[in-house]
Amino acid sequence: MDKVLYHHPVMVHEVVAHLPGREGLYIDGTLGGGGHAEAILRDLHKRGLEKDSFFIGIDQDRDAIAEAKKKLALYSGMTQLIKANFQDIAAIVAAFRASRSDGMPVACILLDLGVSSYQIDTAGRGFSYLQEGPLDMRMAADSGTKASDVLNSMDAHELAGIFFRFGQERLSRAIADAVCSWRRKYGEIRSTGDLAAIVRGVVKGKDRQVKSLARIFQAVRIVVNDETGVLERVLKDGTALLDRWGRMAVISYHSLEDRAVKRYFAAIAKDDWGPKGVGLREPLQRAAFRTVTPKPLVASADEIRCNPRSRSAKLRVIEKIEAVADRPAP
Ligand SMILES: C[S@@+](CC[C@H](N)C(=O)[O-])C[C@H]1O[C@@H](n2cnc3c(N)ncnc32)[C@H](O)[C@@H]1O
Repeated sequence: MDKVLYHHPVMVHEVVAHLPGREGLYIDGTLGGGGHAEAILRDLHKRGLEKDSFFIGIDQDRDAIAEAKKKLALYSGMTQLIKANFQDIAAIVAAFRASRSDGMPVACILLDLGVSSYQIDTAGRGFSYLQEGPLDMRMAADSGTKASDVLNSMDAHELAGIFFRFGQERLSRAIADAVCSWRRKYGEIRSTGDLAAIVRGVVKGKDRQVKSLARIFQAVRIVVNDETGVLERVLKDGTALLDRWGRMAVISYHSLEDRAVKRYFAAIAKDDWGPKGVGLREPLQRAAFRTVTPKPLVASADEIRCNPRSRSAKLRVIEKIEAVADRPAP
């Protein structure tokens, strides 16, 4: 594994300050190098909550699980680290509950979306346009479709669609056409360098090239890892799992992700007033959640100075205020 730091966690102070402060099951769906996990476990210990709490760390990258295992060794008695996709959170919690008799409430779910510094900086993973590597981009490096499969199989129309939708790239069509000409000329696109050369061939000017490279690589990564689909599923299933006073905290790094989180949280934290114009005095149903962060929290200037990656981070937190129907409230 890398000699440099695996990943510098962002907004740790803000995440810890928004933990529910109660015992229960704490889940980190994006374990990475275990930086947030360690801060959460330390906080549980400091508050004397560890006895009746447990921690599950999930990551689809086996390198992350290995790294976090070392970092969290001190807490091995109260942690379980699982290589899985967070979209399977309901099954993971069901399996955990089946293994115990105490019906531990789900107190907290943290998602720190996207990729880790380790994944970006490891050339062989193919996430970075700054390093020559195979066009892979899978977070779960042992399964699924690679970036090269996407770029070598889609037609120009489909490619332009994903570049525009997931990268918001203005020159989507021209870049998609250039991908197809490259395939006709060389047979296939193999490396990060090939994709970078295609983008540079279309976009003029160094500054604009850098922005377009970031957008195109982001778009392909989102498709390869079905990032919008898994986010939608974990928001729905994760919030449903929370017990009363349980919280979900999500850190996102680009507007597509943040918009999805913002909309979902707003929808579940809204009372149901029935169809427009009925003029009810009381809502048909009170919202089961309250928004803890009406505006997203962002990293401090100091943190951004030390860790530029935190510049785009947005943290949103929601809290369940209704008890889960089929189990007694904690
Ligand atoms: C930004 S890093 C998290 C860093 C972590 N908070 C820390 O303190 O080191 C994101 C991690 O989430 C993982 N990840 C992203 N999407 C995932 C998903 N759908 N299921 C499981 N893991 C995921 C990535 O493999 C990566 O290791």
